[in-house]
Amino acid sequence: RAAGDPLITEIQDWNRYPGEGVDVAPYGTPSEFEANVVRRSVPWLTADPVSSINFTPLHELDGIITPNGLCFERHHGGTATIDPADHRLMIHGLVDTPLVFTMEDLKRFPRENRVYFLECAANGGMEWKGAQLNGCQFTHGMIHCVVYTGVPLRYLLEEAGVKTSGKWLLAEGADASAMTRSIPIDKALDDCLVAFKMNGESLRPEQGYPLRLCVPGWEGNMWVKWLRRLEIGDAPWAQREETSKYTDLLAGGKARRHTWVMDVKSVITSPSPQAPVTHGKGPLVISGLAWSGSGTIKRVDVTIDGGRTWQTARIDGPSLPKALHRFYLDINWDGSELLLQSRAIDDQGLVQPTKNALRAARGGNSIYHNNGIQTWHVNKDGVVENVEVS
Ligand code: MTE
Ligand code: CO
Repeated sequence: RAAGDPLITEIQDWNRYPGEGVDVAPYGTPSEFEANVVRRSVPWLTADPVSSINFTPLHELDGIITPNGLCFERHHGGTATIDPADHRLMIHGLVDTPLVFTMEDLKRFPRENRVYFLECAANGGMEWKGAQLNGCQFTHGMIHCVVYTGVPLRYLLEEAGVKTSGKWLLAEGADASAMTRSIPIDKALDDCLVAFKMNGESLRPEQGYPLRLCVPGWEGNMWVKWLRRLEIGDAPWAQREETSKYTDLLAGGKARRHTWVMDVKSVITSPSPQAPVTHGKGPLVISGLAWSGSGTIKRVDVTIDGGRTWQTARIDGPSLPKALHRFYLDINWDGSELLLQSRAIDDQGLVQPTKNALRAARGGNSIYHNNGIQTWHVNKDGVVENVEVS
């Protein structure tokens, strides 16, 4: 900075006068200077804001935890408003004892805390046909990662006693869309959670208050919000959201279905179109997120030259299964154009594919499960654009 900078040489107002007292904001909000850090929707994407989607501002965040007020929202019938005193969870079907739980009942079971990402299967869906949306908020922002507090679903199913013929579970939401999905009983008994807290406080209304299902590593649509009913059956139900939606029509006319696991994926969140390089050449922090529905992330490679050469990024912070991982590559930018990409590899050895490899395997009809490598072009002025390289 230049000598004589008034921010150094002169006393500023915030240094001269006392600020606001402790009772001004009983529930705190971010600084007024962070007003740009908000969820955003894309108006032309959906017909109506009630059955719609907004996106997490990934380009503004760091670490692996998404603040509650910035978790993307996807609902098919608006946000249900439910007094927890009026909420019930019913378990019935192929069980020894059908049960109804109040919220108070649920809070008397042993509970666990676990960090998981939730990614909508449609995340990146617009990008199947080529680079569309200018910002990782829009290309990758149908994801969040929080610490959930809840009761392992296994405990509730044990209480009801699942009959040996019970092989599937139907989870239903209490909202106007009555979201319903079939889940294999093995997954339900493995790591599913009936959650009532996120990041330490009660679920936000838009995330399913007072109760949601967590289906770790699996597509977001199965994480039923405002969870009211669990039915045990011997076969999947073929509900709307697992037939006409959340299946992938392949080139030959057959459809992939039961594509539950979210594939290994990553994206550079900064620099990115909404987070250009404004400081000129010299030290540049390249930062991003990686995740896999199969486990932890073992390695992230980053290229600054469109894939000709790759460097291993530094993963920093906790490495938890089925959670976001934060990576960095600290470079010395010479001011020339960059083609930035990241490629994640998980602990099963699964490698994030190129978009063209995905298209070759799945054809041109797909919307869901796009885990292709993202490219950002950085020009000499630091302006960043969504592009594709072949
Ligand atoms: N559950 C209910 N009851 N109603 C819904 O509309 N949307 C699903 C799922 N669970 C939905 C629901 C979809 S498609 C996704 S991606 C996730 O919730 C989104 O969770 P979030 O709004 O907490 O981000
Ligand atoms: Co979804």
